[in-house]
Amino acid sequence: MLTKIKELKLQLEEFNVKNQTDLETFKTKFVYKKSEMGSLFDAFREIPNDQKKLVGQEINILKKEIEEKLILFEEFLQKSTTTESFEYDISLPSIPETLGSRHPITLIREKIISIFEKIGFNTSDGPEIEDDWHNFGALNFADNHPAREMQDTFFVNNQEKILLRTHTSSVQVRIFTDSKPPIRTLAPGRVFRNEAISARAHCVFHQVEGFFVDKNVSFADLKQTLLYFAQEMFGPETKVRFRPSYFPFTEPSAELDISCDMNNPKGCSLCGGSRNICKGSGWVEIGGAGMIDPEVLKNCGINPEEFTGFAFGVGIERITMLKYRIKDLRLFTENDVRFLKQFEDVF
Ligand code: DAH
Repeated sequence: MLTKIKELKLQLEEFNVKNQTDLETFKTKFVYKKSEMGSLFDAFREIPNDQKKLVGQEINILKKEIEEKLILFEEFLQKSTTTESFEYDISLPSIPETLGSRHPITLIREKIISIFEKIGFNTSDGPEIEDDWHNFGALNFADNHPAREMQDTFFVNNQEKILLRTHTSSVQVRIFTDSKPPIRTLAPGRVFRNEAISARAHCVFHQVEGFFVDKNVSFADLKQTLLYFAQEMFGPETKVRFRPSYFPFTEPSAELDISCDMNNPKGCSLCGGSRNICKGSGWVEIGGAGMIDPEVLKNCGINPEEFTGFAFGVGIERITMLKYRIKDLRLFTENDVRFLKQFEDVF
């Protein structure tokens, strides 16, 4: 055994490393459990007791030498890689790292969330692939009701009526079924409709649903909430207008408009004076709203005698286009960096 130790010692003295591969060879020979050094330790256990003291001392000395060499080698390699990198011409200009920017839809979605966060709305999520009950049935769209025609639907499985959600109102059903009032939440997300792609329509777009259910929630709460939102988003002078409308899941229902200051001599903030957004009316539609139909609450296990609520849904593309004066919806999905990089930090 002492001869083996001597032999290893000699090899250790002669060993040198130039690169990581050499270091690995060194470790395989001297450091790892299965190295020659490792098997020395194994053999040590087998030798007679009267030899253990002497052999043990020798092994320990060798072990120490190995450890020292390992540190030396590692330090050496570390230094040599650092010096190596200085072999490049450090006076050359660096390759610029262009920072990405967030998508305008993301920016507006986050802005909407932060506006509503201030008045106690959290955010909720729901699946993009839905069933008929959550997207339509529980929301009072009766089978074969013409209201379904307003949302030309992509069905994934026609028999079981699995579909791509046509609106974020489906999240109302999920949240109402799974939780108890008070509920005050926003549900932002992607929705899908079978629409031809044009400057004003796309088969994939984004909505934010908001809903509030508690005791004594009234239409006045809805109006004030949406006025607050419109002014935070579009400026303190903004007014809102509710036009009577129809949605199966709200009663009464309204179309929500915001005002533009079309008579502003400096040009309206929404269209810059061209009047092509409000078409000279001074009002622009941004979504729908209403008091949640008691039938919807009932469908989801909430007692409408005890609780009332309001809901609204706005298109994120719509708000983004108004906010940034974007004229063509297709720009959002074309991934043109020249377009996308313009929007960071506008708020
Ligand atoms: N889900 C409707 C749509 O996509 C929008 C909507 C209207 C949502 C009225 C609501 C609401 O919550 O109360 O056309």
